[in-house]
Amino acid sequence: MNQDELKKAVGTKSVDYFKSNSVVGLGTGSTVYYMIEELGRRLKNGELENIVAVTTSSRSEKQAQELGIQTKDLNEVDHIDLTIDGADQIDKNGQGIKGGGGAHLLEKMVATNSNRNLWIVDKSKMADKLGSFPLPTEVIPFGSEKTFNDLQKEGLNPEFRLNEDGSRFLTHNKNYIIDLKIGTINHPHLLADWLDHQVGIVAHGLFLDIVNTIIVGYEDGPKVIDNIR
Ligand code: 5RP
Repeated sequence: MNQDELKKAVGTKSVDYFKSNSVVGLGTGSTVYYMIEELGRRLKNGELENIVAVTTSSRSEKQAQELGIQTKDLNEVDHIDLTIDGADQIDKNGQGIKGGGGAHLLEKMVATNSNRNLWIVDKSKMADKLGSFPLPTEVIPFGSEKTFNDLQKEGLNPEFRLNEDGSRFLTHNKNYIIDLKIGTINHPHLLADWLDHQVGIVAHGLFLDIVNTIIVGYEDGPKVIDNIR
């Protein structure tokens, strides 16, 4: 199985966790793509019914709406039962890095407003410790060179994320992404706490103590890691 087939297998399996008559959160990314396709299929054939979805990007919203999935804004729902999202790296304690697609601000808002969170990844995303995947931060353009300098002074190896044409990548909210090429993160909670207190940073990609269930794609089939918290 190639990586794409592993993503498809976990994306498809994860839809077993959605229930009829519920509000669900839909993440963003190439693994989530398969989950949304399968959700659309099961709604169409009646295996699932009466589902309202809160999406985390215009990409996922468009895909969901094209499949006839009812979408609502986060402000329009009073709770989310379960959110299914991808991740860029997950450590052995179920802590994660997200934001490879630059959607981590909306993803974090949807995740923290969800009763349960499930992540779907292929086996390449699992690591002993976080950090070999660069940690994304979303920063407001105002004063962003100052924010960059503060990150540099802290030894966090910042790099503005660029588009192919060399322009700065812009998020949904027209902010920049600064990726931190830190290497092994030994104390994720301390780092998250420091980043949370930097005024120009709107959100960082450390998703700590959030996920409840992970489905990991292996050649011999998806493996479910449950009861993480
Ligand atoms: C986007 C994310 C994605 O969930 C993460 O990048 C995983 O994406 P993919 O399934 O394409 O590997 O955090 O901001």
